[in-house]
Amino acid sequence: MKKITITDLITWKQQGQKFASLTAYDASFAQLFEQQDVPVLLVGDSLGMVLQGKSDTLSVSVDELAYHTRCVRAGSPNSLLMADMPFMSCATPEQACTNAAALIKAGANMVKVEGGSWLVDTVKMLTERAVPVCAHLGLTPQSVNIFGGFKVQGREEEKAEQMVADAVALEKAGAQIIVLECVPASLAKRITETVSVPVIGIGAGGDTDGQILVMHDMLGVSANYMPKFSKNYLAETGDARAAVAKYVQEVASGEFPGSAHTFK
Ligand code: KIV
Ligand code: NA
Repeated sequence: MKKITITDLITWKQQGQKFASLTAYDASFAQLFEQQDVPVLLVGDSLGMVLQGKSDTLSVSVDELAYHTRCVRAGSPNSLLMADMPFMSCATPEQACTNAAALIKAGANMVKVEGGSWLVDTVKMLTERAVPVCAHLGLTPQSVNIFGGFKVQGREEEKAEQMVADAVALEKAGAQIIVLECVPASLAKRITETVSVPVIGIGAGGDTDGQILVMHDMLGVSANYMPKFSKNYLAETGDARAAVAKYVQEVASGEFPGSAHTFK
């Protein structure tokens, strides 16, 4: 795989070419993903759940994200690598700069921040200081205790309008990618058509520019739990490489996500 940059993603959006991405936490899987042409990888704070066995992402530290970012970068030199800014790492724009620097120095090409318009100053400050930013809207898991659980977001008209406004404000502030998690497909479609930056969805229907899944979900290894929007590709193929190849191909063809994996 050639080196992937934000320019490639913008071109794919403009051409309507859907792209797949996955979370990754270690060098071995990162290498496998790169060999199967997964252009975008995310070192997610989901590592608190899938690696550490916690019930949410809140206890994950910047140091842990940096460690796993170094691991993933070692296995995948060419992917566009995003790393999550964990809970409270963006409490102030100044703290966000310090913490983002640690992730960029660990090998990330971009940091991902959870939250809406309140992050405009932070996104601006990071971008001006040469840290590319992805903004994560919808079911932002760091807000699980505000939401009262892991619930689909943006079903009410007012909240949907707010999410569109947030996406526009964050793009204007400099965000170069938007991730939408667990939002109705119609809202994700509207946001994808409204902003000019690439939109990557998870549980957001088939109309976003890209898709992302947590690798443990798409390999069906998260013991007794499979989110509605995910799909067990290992069960279908019996081989990790074939599973990833099938996911990449089904995203490109538009077969995934189907209506069974989508919130209306
Ligand atoms: O941490 C994570 O894995 C994520 C993705 C679900 C987008 O933020
Ligand atoms: Na995350």
